[in-house]
Amino acid sequence: VVPLAPPDVLHAELPENPLCLITDDGSSLAPVLAKALSEQGWSPVILRFSGISELVKKKRKPFAKEIPLIELSSSAESELETSLKSLTEKHGNIGGFIHLHPASSAPAESKLEDGANAFLKQAFLTAKNVCTFLNEAGKSDSSRSHFVTVTRLDGELGMGSGQFGAVGSGLSGLIKTAGVEWPDVFCRFVDLQPELTADTAASCILQELLDPDLRIKEVGYSGSGKSGTRRMTVQPKIIRDLTTKISSKSLTKKSVFLVSGGARGVTAECVVKLAQTQPCSFILLGRSTIEDEPEWAKGVGEDKTKLKQAAMKSLVDSGEKPTPAKVNQLVGKVEAGRDIRKNLERIRNAGGKAEYVSADVTDAKKLKSAIAPVVKKIGPVTGIIHGAGVLADKLI
Ligand SMILES: NC(=O)c1ccc[n+]([C@@H]2O[C@H](COP(=O)([O-])OP(=O)(O)OC[C@H]3O[C@@H](n4cnc5c(N)ncnc54)[C@H](OP(=O)(O)O)[C@@H]3O)[C@@H](O)[C@H]2O)c1
Repeated sequence: VVPLAPPDVLHAELPENPLCLITDDGSSLAPVLAKALSEQGWSPVILRFSGISELVKKKRKPFAKEIPLIELSSSAESELETSLKSLTEKHGNIGGFIHLHPASSAPAESKLEDGANAFLKQAFLTAKNVCTFLNEAGKSDSSRSHFVTVTRLDGELGMGSGQFGAVGSGLSGLIKTAGVEWPDVFCRFVDLQPELTADTAASCILQELLDPDLRIKEVGYSGSGKSGTRRMTVQPKIIRDLTTKISSKSLTKKSVFLVSGGARGVTAECVVKLAQTQPCSFILLGRSTIEDEPEWAKGVGEDKTKLKQAAMKSLVDSGEKPTPAKVNQLVGKVEAGRDIRKNLERIRNAGGKAEYVSADVTDAKKLKSAIAPVVKKIGPVTGIIHGAGVLADKLI
């Protein structure tokens, strides 16, 4: 965490239609921020996600009567879409979206339909549904549209008191992604210490909206009282360089890493690199099973078309109809087996020990019993590298 000076003030006009959507987090911040934005010329609209009403603090200040309130009864995207459509038909384009994320201690969060991810999911869906408006409003040179998410971790982006909330912190990823996809929209992740008063919290948010420095993506605010608030951001720092040979108490030849997704793709590349400098053991996990190469694939190189032709021929020879799905499945199995065998060899050649275990990381019980024999053979797991994932990239 590095300290930041208070931001400069960008002299920007409000968007042509200064409608600003604010999600209600149930705390006093929402009405106080709405009032402060109104005073600056914005037209705030409150969006209350389903599940929030249970969190609304009894003693908080009410919203001004003229501020429209959209109350959602479910987390269905269709309801959100319809509500935003009627809002914009009545009030015009949306120029700003501020998502106030409920404090991580919010008790009702886990009771929601989508569990702890519920508000994160709804924030994502809202961002997706206002994206066209924000981009349209952001095109002007003289004004700025914005997408800001506000969490109440510890005011130091989860790196101070240790009040780290994995779910709320996901909003930081959403902001960074939006910032790349929507270059005309000002995107910022703000983390406010939960103890900050609603007035202080609102003024921190307001000053972020006008920060001219676009290099910063995440800002934290903590402390108050006489010394005022401290503003900070995070900068990556190398704690330990694993690309140079080192031995320490926590990393020795006896270390055993459990690496999900480690037998293929980008994670396998990382393990090979790590094995070059840290000759420890790696248990690689993937759902694929390693089977001996089938006869039809033997001698066929890596060319996908040739593999598909060979798979098709083998299906025809065995009297089966060679549908694209069947062919892809056969080829996929062969490619997975080849990748796994090749990467095990690369890790061993680099100086590490490697074992492959076929297990699905989403099934803890089966995973535990699947790795048990290997753990018995090479020793207990001392570290975990989680790399299993399914590539399904899409724009917001
Ligand atoms: N490629 C990149 O440059 C890059 C960069 C940054 C981040 N990422 C992220 O890293 C992750 C992996 O990407 P990749 O390109 O390496 O993909 P990949 O080549 O498809 O490798 C994914 C690996 O994860 C395993 N896996 C998937 N689901 C699993 C499950 N439920 N249980 C156990 N193992 C599972 C796969 O094995 P099985 O199919 O055998 O299960 C495979 O070994 C993705 O989430 C991706 O978004 C990728």
